[in-house]
Amino acid sequence: METVVSGIRPTGNLHLGNYFGAVKNFLKMQDEYKCFFFIADWHSLTTHPRPENIQLSVRKILAEYLACGLDPEKATIYVQSDVKEVLELYLFLNMNAYLGELERTTTFKEKARKQPDNVNAGLLTYPTLMAADILIHRAHKVPVGKDQEQNMEMARKFARRFNTIYECDLFPEPASFSYSGEGIKIPGLDGSGKMGKSEGNAIYLIDEPSVIRKKVMKAVTDSGPTVPNSEKPEVIRNLFTLLEVVSSREVYDFFNEKYNNCEIRYGDLKKQLAEDIVSFTTPIRERIQEFASDTAYLDKVVAMGAEKSRESARATIQEVRHLIGFR
Ligand code: TYM
Repeated sequence: METVVSGIRPTGNLHLGNYFGAVKNFLKMQDEYKCFFFIADWHSLTTHPRPENIQLSVRKILAEYLACGLDPEKATIYVQSDVKEVLELYLFLNMNAYLGELERTTTFKEKARKQPDNVNAGLLTYPTLMAADILIHRAHKVPVGKDQEQNMEMARKFARRFNTIYECDLFPEPASFSYSGEGIKIPGLDGSGKMGKSEGNAIYLIDEPSVIRKKVMKAVTDSGPTVPNSEKPEVIRNLFTLLEVVSSREVYDFFNEKYNNCEIRYGDLKKQLAEDIVSFTTPIRERIQEFASDTAYLDKVVAMGAEKSRESARATIQEVRHLIGFR
């Protein structure tokens, strides 16, 4: 059976981008593959070196994972920092990762621009740690959103390079995966490209309906098309992308037709979009609260996940040591 690995940083709550870019695929994959889903707490230190309460942030994401429907009986759900074997693989991979290629990564350049006072080595080697997360379980498939594509290319490169240098075929080349065929990018409602925690434009799964309605009604639009069947500008495409993921086909087609006939009323579209987001998130929000208050259960899931993921990681790291020449 093929192996799947993916993770999310605990730097905030889960938003619609995380859900439709990643978690939705996790839910289906846990029935079909050997899955490892983790919370990337080490990675979060690259941007948040002094987390206020990392333990709590991790538990928050865990409760959200479970509320979305991740099942610890089907998938191994764990915390990255519970698997120290990842660090050893990170070190080995770093020995064959080159400064030039790490510096050229757009995510590194972006982060370096955003936090000029903290361009740390962890940021630079972010793709190596991510590759270690993936390769430690010798994953074949990695469900991630489009924004992770460059990190995935690096992971494939590091896998190939390891196999070549140590003349083995230990690591499969991990492929990005999405049931929709290609990776998704969920846009922000502020007209900017991507919904994200640090972009401050996210709709969170835990947002109350009133908050969701307010955020959606504030979304940027334009003055509307004047020529039938004209191409949608980015801000409008963004709204339609959201409709596509949360609303029914009929609703999408209805507004699309209105747009094409130049009869679109953005107020109506936003109202409908807000209600569809609320219907989608409400049951999840309620379950998040239930899971979050059951700390004994969360601890049990973490302990179980640590054991299962370490077993898999230990097997890989033993082979890695052996291949490099450590006994
Ligand atoms: P992170 O924490 O930024 O995001 C977690 C997942 O959510 C997806 N995502 C999106 N997808 C579509 N549209 C959006 N607007 C959007 N925003 C976020 C991301 O693509 C991701 O799948 N580097 C990773 C965490 C990580 C990881 C790994 C992932 C660490 N090690 C190993 C896979 C395998 C990250 O920062 O994701």
